[in-house]
Amino acid sequence: MSQSGFNPSATESWKTLKNAAAKMSAFGIADAMTDERVSRYQAQCAGIYLDFSKNRIDDAALAGLFGLLNDSPFASLRAAMFDGEAINNTEQRAVLHTALRASNAELGARGLAAEAQQIAEQKQHIKTLSEKIRAGQWLGATGKPITDIVNMGIGGSDLGPKLASEALKEFAQPGLRCHFVANVDGELIRSTLTDLNPETTVVIVASKTFTTQETLLNANTAAAWFTERLGLAQPFSSPHFIGVTAAPDTAIELGFLPEQLLQFWDWVGGRYSMWSSIGLSIAISIGFERFEAMLDGAREMDQHFLTAPLEQNMPVILALLGIWYRNFLGAPSLAVIPYCERLEQFPFYLQQLDMESNGKGVNREGAKLDYQTGPVVWGLTGTNGQHSFFQLLHQGDHVVPVDFIGLIRDSLSLPEHHKVLQANMLAQSAALMSGKKASSAEPYRNYPGNRPSNTLLLDELTPKSFGALVALYEHKVFVQGAVWNINSFDQWGVELGKGIAKDLLSGDANLDASSRSLIGKMGW
Ligand code: F6P
Repeated sequence: MSQSGFNPSATESWKTLKNAAAKMSAFGIADAMTDERVSRYQAQCAGIYLDFSKNRIDDAALAGLFGLLNDSPFASLRAAMFDGEAINNTEQRAVLHTALRASNAELGARGLAAEAQQIAEQKQHIKTLSEKIRAGQWLGATGKPITDIVNMGIGGSDLGPKLASEALKEFAQPGLRCHFVANVDGELIRSTLTDLNPETTVVIVASKTFTTQETLLNANTAAAWFTERLGLAQPFSSPHFIGVTAAPDTAIELGFLPEQLLQFWDWVGGRYSMWSSIGLSIAISIGFERFEAMLDGAREMDQHFLTAPLEQNMPVILALLGIWYRNFLGAPSLAVIPYCERLEQFPFYLQQLDMESNGKGVNREGAKLDYQTGPVVWGLTGTNGQHSFFQLLHQGDHVVPVDFIGLIRDSLSLPEHHKVLQANMLAQSAALMSGKKASSAEPYRNYPGNRPSNTLLLDELTPKSFGALVALYEHKVFVQGAVWNINSFDQWGVELGKGIAKDLLSGDANLDASSRSLIGKMGW
């Protein structure tokens, strides 16, 4: 399946790219900019247009990057992922989030009929449950219909549903509110519950493992609230709790009713799970048909990723540009700036997607890497970011590639506001590229320019284009992981701290002097 031991830095392409990068100091994006460049340095799919002409890149460097891609296990790994092979090699798991949005015929052709059946059953469950809640037919313990949903989960069991619910709030059912409790900070759950009526509230406990400390403590606190306010002896077995998990037995042991449990499987990674039952809160909010439209958008991106020629393949292009900046032009971070307030959560979502996937230091065979992997991903909506960190983007001594994300149309905005917002985005990418020379008397007014960016334009923000946008970045991360020959689907780095926190709480931790002193300051 993969070229065992592949080392990108040992390839001829890598050397070619190093040489190409050395020549790049003389390359001016603005000088290279022509209509012809714009017409070639673009790609489109599923209502998303990508202009990548404002990058420090030329045809020779691009050819080198495609050479590197072709040297890498990318093509075989992509096929293996879609076919359900266990490409997550440290956990011996398949990686099949794409199956959640594929057609039955596609899955059958890939030998995934059993998975297709499981997916169909769970989708039916999501449909029935979400429609019942939306129709006011799911009644609380005192016979009242539901007005508030609280999604309790963290990481992949929170970020996707929260992002989608915000991004698609235009389609939310009036009178049905969705809340998200991820952090274990007691203030959050306290203030969330304070505003709610327990009679009309349903808590969705979303956890792949159903062992996550923060989620279980939040769920227990919510259960105590139902007991106190409604006198429920077994709140987890009441209509007020629904579980979503890949570990149903664990949930049932805690008291959850099997018929109020939705499932997914170990072949869906947590940060790739919003397309599964983890998306229940999305379906409740926007309706099952629109949830399916979101899956359709992702599926269109999957098809594009599988079939579009590599030179026009949007995830591939974004991934190779990222590798160019990370490994050859020395840029350690990527800023993602959506010019749409409804996409405020997108940078947070991408942080887990990208950094938990590709923040790795050994390759698929366990050997230490001699090249850099995933960048630090960060960002904020525009124009807010302009009044905060854009100073550094324009004049700081860093190369920070930026992904700008804008909307061509926005029926929720006001025409003048929409134009001002998008004009700011276009102005920023132009300013970063072109810069402006200042007189020697006023050097602080100098804008060096030549600062790279991509611009992604969505026709509009619909369930479909939103699904495609998220899948675009999923596949971008995949391509980078394939070229770096790392396992993008495990996350061992998060385990050490979790273990120490448990030991610390049980008084078993054998910690250093600084940590012991800090524990003392806590008064424990
Ligand atoms: O700690 C990291 C992590 O394991 C993520 O990968 C995951 O999305 C999150 O915790 C939540 O895990 P779970 O869904 O099992 O509660």
